[in-house]
Amino acid sequence: MNSILITGCNRGLGLGLVQHLTQLPNPPEKIFATCRDITKAQELRKIADESKNVHIIEVDLKDTHRYAEIVDTVGKNVGDAGLNVLFNNAGIAAKYTRIGMVKEEQLTDVYFVNTVVPIMLTKAFLPLLKKAASKKQGMGVQRAAVINMTSIIGSIEDNTMGGFYPYRCSKTALNAATKSMSIDLLDDGILVACMHPGWVRTDMGGANAPMDVETSVSDMVRTIQGLNESHNGKFLQHDGKFLPW
Ligand SMILES: NC(=O)c1ccc[n+]([C@@H]2O[C@H](COP(=O)([O-])OP(=O)(O)OC[C@H]3O[C@@H](n4cnc5c(N)ncnc54)[C@H](OP(=O)(O)O)[C@@H]3O)[C@@H](O)[C@H]2O)c1
Repeated sequence: MNSILITGCNRGLGLGLVQHLTQLPNPPEKIFATCRDITKAQELRKIADESKNVHIIEVDLKDTHRYAEIVDTVGKNVGDAGLNVLFNNAGIAAKYTRIGMVKEEQLTDVYFVNTVVPIMLTKAFLPLLKKAASKKQGMGVQRAAVINMTSIIGSIEDNTMGGFYPYRCSKTALNAATKSMSIDLLDDGILVACMHPGWVRTDMGGANAPMDVETSVSDMVRTIQGLNESHNGKFLQHDGKFLPW
């Protein structure tokens, strides 16, 4: 892939993805990395200082009215080549997750960031993704793709624990959106899949998570590089395994 935009890159998996991509033998020519507050993104700024491929975009993704401006910035940078990959990574979780404790504003806040944002950002970037898709054949990240960072917690079939209403419902909805996008964008040659990164040691995953960021992101990068038409509209684990809806 020549270009990729990843959301939520100041920490956790987003930061790990940017770091890993810059260290590949053939890194993408352009990596657009969003963060909410550039003053709190020291590690990302350090990577951008050392790698001319990395372009930082400061945005709170809840400000959907800024999307046109971001698309314009990226569009001017990529020119006729368009944008190959949009990786909707940014996400939040909520504290009170059992039915007796769940709060209305947590349900709506988490739904907004984890579901509304990836759908609206994908809509905004469609012209650039279509531009990239029009230049190549086949399906995959070398042409055009949208990757939505989901969670196994969004799997209805795998739900044996209950609870987690705000987060679980937001990711199940994101999975449903992924499936719809994969149908709607098929004729444009844009592949759409959702990805579970594993349970990973980040601020969200917590200190007890079994997997480190580097293992998860190196698996995910390998998996997205190998995507083809058989992966369109699928729910994938970091290592490429198909997960149940
Ligand atoms: N870690 C896991 O075990 C795990 C498992 C399954 C799925 N996931 C998914 O993987 C993705 C990344 O998770 P993570 O573990 O890296 O979480 P994290 O360490 O908590 O990082 C979350 C990232 O999302 C950004 N973000 C949140 N709200 C935002 C907003 N309104 N606008 C812009 N950026 C925003 C954060 O920016 P700020 O620093 O500004 O808040 C941060 O960069 C999420 O979608 C998560 O649901 C993680």
